[in-house]
Amino acid sequence: SYETLTEKGTSWTVVTPIIFSYKVTETHGLLDPCNATLLTGHAHEPQTSADTLRIPSKPIKRFVVVDQEVYRIYGSQITKYFEVNNVTCKILALPTTEENKSMEMALKILEELNSFSIDRRAEPVIAIGGGVCLDIVGLAASLYRRRTPYIRVPTTLLSYIDASVGAKTGVNFANCKNKLGSYIPPVATYLDLSFIKTIPRRHISNGLAEMLKMALMKHKELFELLEKHGQHLLDSKFQSDSSVFSVSSQSASRSTRLAIVTMLEELAPNLWEDDLNRLVDFGHVISPALEMRVLPSLLHGEAVNIDMAYMVYVSRESGQLTEDEKNRIISCMVGLELPVWHQACTMELIQSSLQDRLKHSGGLVRMPLPVGLGQAIFNNTSYEVLTSAYEKWC
Ligand SMILES: NC(=O)c1ccc[n+]([C@@H]2O[C@H](COP(=O)([O-])OP(=O)(O)OC[C@H]3O[C@@H](n4cnc5c(N)ncnc54)[C@H](O)[C@@H]3O)[C@@H](O)[C@H]2O)c1
Ligand SMILES: [Zn+2]
Repeated sequence: SYETLTEKGTSWTVVTPIIFSYKVTETHGLLDPCNATLLTGHAHEPQTSADTLRIPSKPIKRFVVVDQEVYRIYGSQITKYFEVNNVTCKILALPTTEENKSMEMALKILEELNSFSIDRRAEPVIAIGGGVCLDIVGLAASLYRRRTPYIRVPTTLLSYIDASVGAKTGVNFANCKNKLGSYIPPVATYLDLSFIKTIPRRHISNGLAEMLKMALMKHKELFELLEKHGQHLLDSKFQSDSSVFSVSSQSASRSTRLAIVTMLEELAPNLWEDDLNRLVDFGHVISPALEMRVLPSLLHGEAVNIDMAYMVYVSRESGQLTEDEKNRIISCMVGLELPVWHQACTMELIQSSLQDRLKHSGGLVRMPLPVGLGQAIFNNTSYEVLTSAYEKWC
């Protein structure tokens, strides 16, 4: 910190660079009792801490929050994992749905956490579930004793490629999506694709929407993968058949990898979102208002896709896309079984969302728009283009 003297008095300026480092790790058999990742993977020196953790006089303690539906399917495996590893744990199964994504739910977690009592330095809170569960637990952990480390285990495709790689936590508030939240990353995220095999088909499509977002903004190969193998990914639920080495059987690992890498490239240099030109905002300009307006009828990724479909028309109207490219993108969306239009997405809703963005984005809309396949620009589109695109879109 440094001191400045003025005629009015002294002021001290504090400059504190904050460095966060966290691991996003792909693993298999995360719930296999022999796999120590969940207990020790976050430590900087896994071998030594594994040893110290096993000293019998110091039992390991973990506070675990699990989505209720995930608990119904994986609960016995989760319980067994901690039992076999002699972990004293509290497993809290909660209905972490979008309608329950609230401060009340975060407080409920905090009360349970407080009465269980953990060593804040050595015993990270573990969240196992979809994006809702990970977001609420992340917020609760970031509030508890000002910041308690937490671990994310995503169990839906959407949270696997999106909610788990970044630093954002949050709950809905005053009828607005994620209005309360923090930018506190987890100490570690563990990715295990095998959870995806039990999620409903509609939720696979939901996750594919966020993958398509990154594809359209940044990665042509990813777009072509989704275009060619989307149906296979939906049918196989991202479970690759290791006995077949075809392109389609590798599409699950290739596409998730590309989605995560492109997402990390965007997020890492801009963890606090200070830079307002964000490609990851594509599909997230109108969708927050739409999603909240029709809750619970549209899933997050579905609302995002409707927003992206409209923006594709905007891009076409302003000459950034050819007719053929526009058609390919819309067909790809339909192939991924995603909605491309919604009656509640009115011109009035579009305008109020853009107004809102103007307020929070330094006076410019800076709308990310696709240019061809796999590239983007930030644009301030005229009212004429927005309305003519809207008419064609409808
Ligand atoms: N923090 C971020 O950066 C970020 C990024 C993207 C999205 N999000 C948030 O994520 C949320 C959406 O996440 P989501 O799509 O994972 O929704 P979700 O958490 O509601 O999960 C979807 C459904 O799948 C069920 N489920 C979860 N795992 C399962 C499994 N393995 N098998 C069977 N069923 C399972 C859940 O019970 C739930 O009913 C939104 O609230 C969104 O705001 C956050
Ligand atoms: Zn999203």
